[in-house]
Amino acid sequence: MELAAVILAAGKGTRMKSELPKVLHKICGRPMVSYVLKAVKGAGIERIVMVVGHRGELVAEAFQAEAAIVYQEPQLGTAHALLQAKGALAGFGGHVLVLPGDTPLVTERTLLDILEAHRSAHAFATVLTACLEEPAGYGRVVRDSSGRVVKIVEQKDATADELAIKEVNTGIYCFSADGLFAYLDRIRPDNAQNEYYLTDLVEIYLQNNRPVAAYRAARPEEVLGINDRRQLAQAEALLRRRKTDELMLSGVTVIDPASTFVDQEVVVGRDSVIYPFTVIEGNSVIGKNCAIGPGAHLKDVRIGENVLVTNSVVVESVVEDYCSIGPFAYIRPGCRLKRKVKIGDFVELKKTVVGENSKVPHLSYLGDTTVGADVNIGAGTITCNYDGVRKWPTYIGDGAFIGSNTNLVAPVEVGAGAVIGAGSTITKNVPPGALGVARGRQRIVERWSARRKIREEGPD
Ligand code: UD1
Ligand code: CA
Repeated sequence: MELAAVILAAGKGTRMKSELPKVLHKICGRPMVSYVLKAVKGAGIERIVMVVGHRGELVAEAFQAEAAIVYQEPQLGTAHALLQAKGALAGFGGHVLVLPGDTPLVTERTLLDILEAHRSAHAFATVLTACLEEPAGYGRVVRDSSGRVVKIVEQKDATADELAIKEVNTGIYCFSADGLFAYLDRIRPDNAQNEYYLTDLVEIYLQNNRPVAAYRAARPEEVLGINDRRQLAQAEALLRRRKTDELMLSGVTVIDPASTFVDQEVVVGRDSVIYPFTVIEGNSVIGKNCAIGPGAHLKDVRIGENVLVTNSVVVESVVEDYCSIGPFAYIRPGCRLKRKVKIGDFVELKKTVVGENSKVPHLSYLGDTTVGADVNIGAGTITCNYDGVRKWPTYIGDGAFIGSNTNLVAPVEVGAGAVIGAGSTITKNVPPGALGVARGRQRIVERWSARRKIREEGPD
């Protein structure tokens, strides 16, 4: 059967108490509506319409490449929202899957289930329902004594008896396109919220002998609708758990899923271990056999194989195989650590390339720096890359040895194999193989303490 989908994403999301449209609030690093879109595409539907309204330009900007955007202005309810898709679906004669943009946990499996139920029931409308222990906030599915769906009643319009019903409307439906928009036009906003309710279509269809089916979701936890930020956190917890489950099933050890936060798009290789209190965000890719955490925070990183990262922050950087980072390192955007690099405690790097097998073991800042291979950077080395106006680069050649507590005043170059004496402030280039020392010479004053005593206390 020919399929299209309409995602309703125009609502303000009043209960979120936010400037941002509800469907753009993020869950595990991605806007909630992107999960709905992903499930729809996963179910094989290519023709997708998204109805946007409240700050719709923001939603449109984010998704115009993936869906046809139509505007609903003003937002008068879910039926009115669906009606806005009429033009975009003109001439379409198949079946239309309708989904709210605020139900991010729904999976393609469930969408395929409702499509199958709709097909086999030969219905004009099929409603995806779910039985919930706590149905509060959802529309209730009212059935007659023989179990047939009679209507859907919104929480705010329900009688005490109806409120006791545990079967709820998920807001996901499949409609035959035939006559859909004509019947939508008949809906009136005669209810507690003065809105055009899409749910009223059930009664209207039944009155007009258009069969309505209902399909109960096999996994009710998938239909959580996000209306406020408590539900946002619930969805986050469920999706986060889904992600750590997926990682574990693919061969990654997650020591404590409850304290591990991994964004949806993150990839982690086999036999890597993620220790507690770790956050991995964005489009990070981590290779095999790594040990990440405890306490690692990674964002948009590419990490090779056999890498160790403990108690450190790494952002928008590339880390090659066999590197070791931390504890307490801060790798800022634009860094590249080549194979077997060691970055130790209290080291900050920014826009810096560190060559193979080089070490920055402790207490250093390297910014706008290129370090060759087999270099040792002594404790307390600082690149003075900023003169108050602009940033300047530092180059350190292969095999150089930078003594502890060195200042490298950029722009400056230390040649391959050069040695810098500890405590130097280097302002001029040091040629390859040379020694650069720039510090006051040590002076010895013999018997200085005894002489001071005499000065201060007088002779015995
Ligand atoms: C809706 C259903 C309810 C169901 C619940 C499932 C109706 C009348 N009620 O209630 O039966 O149990 O979803 O989560 O449909 N939207 C628009 N334009 C509008 C209004 C809403 O595009 O004018 C969009 C919203 O952005 C949202 C979706 O439709 O993505 C649902 O709207 P919402 O206000 O959250 O409906 P609920 O009260 O949750
Ligand atoms: Ca909702």
